[in-house]
Amino acid sequence: ARPWRGVIEEYRDWLPVSAKTPVVTLGEGGTPLVHSAWLSELVRGEVHLKVEGSNPTGSFKDRGMTAAISTALEDGARAVVCASTGNTSASMTAYAARAGLTPIVLVPLGKIAAGKMAQAVMHGAEVIQVRGGFDECLQISRGLAEEYPVALVNSVNPVRLQGQKTASFEIVDVLGRAPDVHVLPVGNAGNISAYWLGFREYAEAGMAAGTPQMWGFQAAGAAPIVRGAPVPDPDTIATAIRIGNPASWHLAEAARDESSGRIEAVTDEQILQAQRLLGARDGVFVEPASAAGVAGLLAAAEAGQVEAGLTVTVTVTGHGLKDTETALSGVDSIVDSVIDADVSAAAEVAGLA
Ligand code: F0G
Repeated sequence: ARPWRGVIEEYRDWLPVSAKTPVVTLGEGGTPLVHSAWLSELVRGEVHLKVEGSNPTGSFKDRGMTAAISTALEDGARAVVCASTGNTSASMTAYAARAGLTPIVLVPLGKIAAGKMAQAVMHGAEVIQVRGGFDECLQISRGLAEEYPVALVNSVNPVRLQGQKTASFEIVDVLGRAPDVHVLPVGNAGNISAYWLGFREYAEAGMAAGTPQMWGFQAAGAAPIVRGAPVPDPDTIATAIRIGNPASWHLAEAARDESSGRIEAVTDEQILQAQRLLGARDGVFVEPASAAGVAGLLAAAEAGQVEAGLTVTVTVTGHGLKDTETALSGVDSIVDSVIDADVSAAAEVAGLA
C-alpha cells in the first residue's frame, strides 16, 4: 500500500491538469466510507456515509480547491477571491496559504460558524463581512474578479466541480459498483452537480455498470430549487446552505432529472435530529448542513419511498467541530451535571449508583 497522494495525483487522468500544473495539495480525498447499521436497517438496504469532514480543512471543499488553486497558480494569479458560508473560505485560505496567493474572503455578516471564521483567520485571509447574505457576497466576488486582477474560486469556476467529482470515483472504487441512490445536501448546488458528473463519467468509461439516482436536500427556509424560484431572504440554522439563488441551479436540476432523482426540503428540526442521530449512533459528528441528506433519507424512509434492498450512499459534507455553538445549544445536561470532586456524586449523576 502506498500513501494517498491527494485527488489530483490519484485521479490525474480524469482532471483538467497537465504535467506543468503546479499541484497544491494537502492530501485531500481518500475519505472514509462508513457503513451505518441503523440507517441500513431503517431502509432495509445498505447505507454508507461518505465522511467528508475527514478532509484536511474539514469539508468536501478541499477536493475542488486543490484543483482550483493549482490552476489559478498555473495561470499566474497572485490573489484569489471567494464568497462563502464558511467552508469554501476555510478551504480556499488554506490552499492559498500553501500556494503563496493572497486570499480575499467575503462572508455574510454574523452568519458563519466560529470554527470556519477561525480557519480563515489562521490561514492569513482578509475576511470581509458583508451586510447581506451569501448571494450578495457571490455577486461582489464576481464583480471583483471581473474588474481586478484576482481569480474567482467559487464553484462557478468549473475546475472546482472537476475536483469535487472525485468523491464519486472514490465511492465506486470502494464499493466496487455505483450505488443505487446517492444522497447529499444542496446549497449553492455545486456538489450535487459535481457528483453527477463523476458518476456519469465513470459509467461512460465502463468503471461502473450504471449511475445512481441523485437525491438532494435543501433546508426548508432556503429551498429555491424545491420552490422553483429564488428565495430573497433565506434562513436556516444550517448556515452552510443558507443560499437563496444557487449558482449551479440548472446543473442541479439536470442531475435530478437525468438520474430520475429528487430535490426536496427538510426542516431545521429534521436536520438537527439527523445531526444528533449521526453523532449518537454512528459516532460521526457533522455540522448541521451536513446532516440534511440523512434528514432527507429518514423522511423518505418514513414516507415509504425507499425501496428495500438498495445500496445507498450519503455524503456528510463537513465536520461537526466547525460549529460547536449550534451543537451545544439546547443541551442542558452539561449544565445540570456539575458536581463537587467526589466519586459517589459522579456515580449518581452517571446513573451508576
Ligand atoms: N454542506 C456544507 C457543509 C457546505 O459548506 C455546503 C456549501 C454544502 C453542504 C452545499 O454544497 O453549495 O455545493 O450545494 N458551502 C458553500 C460554502 C456554499 O461557501 O462553504 P453546495
